[in-house]
Amino acid sequence: MKLLILNGPNLNLLGKREPEIYGSQTFEDYFRTLQLKFNDVELSYFQSNSEGAIIDKLHEVGFSFDGVVLNAGAYTHTSVAIADAISGITTPVVEVHISNVHNREAFRHKSYLSPVCKGVILGFGLKSYELGIESFL
Ligand code: DQA
Repeated sequence: MKLLILNGPNLNLLGKREPEIYGSQTFEDYFRTLQLKFNDVELSYFQSNSEGAIIDKLHEVGFSFDGVVLNAGAYTHTSVAIADAISGITTPVVEVHISNVHNREAFRHKSYLSPVCKGVILGFGLKSYELGIESFL
């Protein structure tokens, strides 16, 4: 089983960024615990702050991997281009969010990605990623 965790803009700042919302653990640190927990899964990780790089990565893995766990950050609420990339690949994508976007600002309530994703997991902190991986197993 080959899975990619794909993180979008500002998620490289996890651990430092608004810890009251996103927690105080870095993603690199959390990723190591995921690798230990899911040691029979070929787990890769990629983060980019740029929309094009996220789309390129989806194209790269999107016909060979078994799944993508995607937190597109703020692009979730703006990007028709990422939604089109998800529609254009065959690998299923699960959308995840650390925070419960529905109890935050109204502009976070809209996701361009949810309609083209296999499912959505949100609001469980970093555990949302773990649940995303489990959804493929
Ligand atoms: C987020 C929620 C988004 O609204 C926000 O722009 C992020 C993080 C989350 O994981 O809770 O960058 O995707």
